[in-house]
Amino acid sequence: MSGLVDRYGRVHRDLRISLTDRCSLRCTYCMPADGVPWLRSSTLLSTDELVRLTRVAVSLGVREVRLTGGEPLLRPDVVDVVAALAALPTPDGPLDLSLTTNALRLPALAAPLRDAGLDRVNISIDTLRRGRFVELTRRDRLADTLAGIEAARAVGFSPIKLNALIMRGVNDDEICDLVSFAVERGLEMRFIEHMPLDGGHTWRREEMVTAEELLAVLASRFELESLGHDGSAPAETFRIAGTSSTVGVIASVTRAFCDRCDRVRLTADGQFRNCLFAREESDLRTRMREGADDAALASAMQACVAGKRPGHGIDDPSFIQPARPMSAIGG
Ligand code: 5AD
Ligand code: SF4
Repeated sequence: MSGLVDRYGRVHRDLRISLTDRCSLRCTYCMPADGVPWLRSSTLLSTDELVRLTRVAVSLGVREVRLTGGEPLLRPDVVDVVAALAALPTPDGPLDLSLTTNALRLPALAAPLRDAGLDRVNISIDTLRRGRFVELTRRDRLADTLAGIEAARAVGFSPIKLNALIMRGVNDDEICDLVSFAVERGLEMRFIEHMPLDGGHTWRREEMVTAEELLAVLASRFELESLGHDGSAPAETFRIAGTSSTVGVIASVTRAFCDRCDRVRLTADGQFRNCLFAREESDLRTRMREGADDAALASAMQACVAGKRPGHGIDDPSFIQPARPMSAIGG
């Protein structure tokens, strides 16, 4: 077996697993107010199934797992999932285990997650203003997100990254405030360009705030020194002069990093994907439930990776948004 290598020589070591497509918020850029049609529970992977698929991926070279959603902390047994994944042996020691969350359940779960072996958390926060949070997420939960950030700090997760999606006319006046908020708490603020992945198909190129614009705004308040990219990491990071903090910009659209992508994805219902924007998936759940052995599952993963396109092609006129929304793929 030769691992998860595609036709362009990209080696895949990072597996993103969506634990559920459900969410406690309804961010306008992600979901319509009524949500999206949820996955049927009989199609969701059990914890044993997802641990088995992760073990197979590890045998193919995966060394890093990020848990996503929807909101991964809505999965009732999320602490058990983390404990089982943390116990998976790899030739290089334990997996690097991280989680992307809206933080609402972190006050209750931060300590058990850390004790179960979670290494890092990324927390999504797009605004620090309560009224705007309600408009953006359709839920009055800013206080809970802030409490979740404090809980993550209190139990010692490090680094803690905060992710924001900046939209024109919505929260583009908060770019510097978000950075100051993060710097004051020793956290790393990161801005992600808006990608065409929403359930409501509302993305417009001209409304997207580009990395270039973000950096111009940041430069008006902060003195930044580029630290470049860390390996295959999507963010370009900058040191903020006079602080020990960095800020990151993830230019997924305007400065695509597909050429160094090392990520594959597993949806909550057991579909293996070679890209966020892939239009085909490999149905590992059905194979597994029909009795496929580990070698057959490994071959299916390899075949999926072999079909990976060179890039997402958002700028190509023939670009087609994937059928599934981001909440069902995993961020
Ligand atoms: N483009 C970029 N980022 C997105 N997220 C959700 N939808 C999109 C999109 N269309 C982000 C959320 C969260 C993470 C899980 O993904 O803001 O930080
Ligand atoms: Fe939930 Fe994340 Fe989608 Fe917001 S972006 S509705 S927090 S899954």
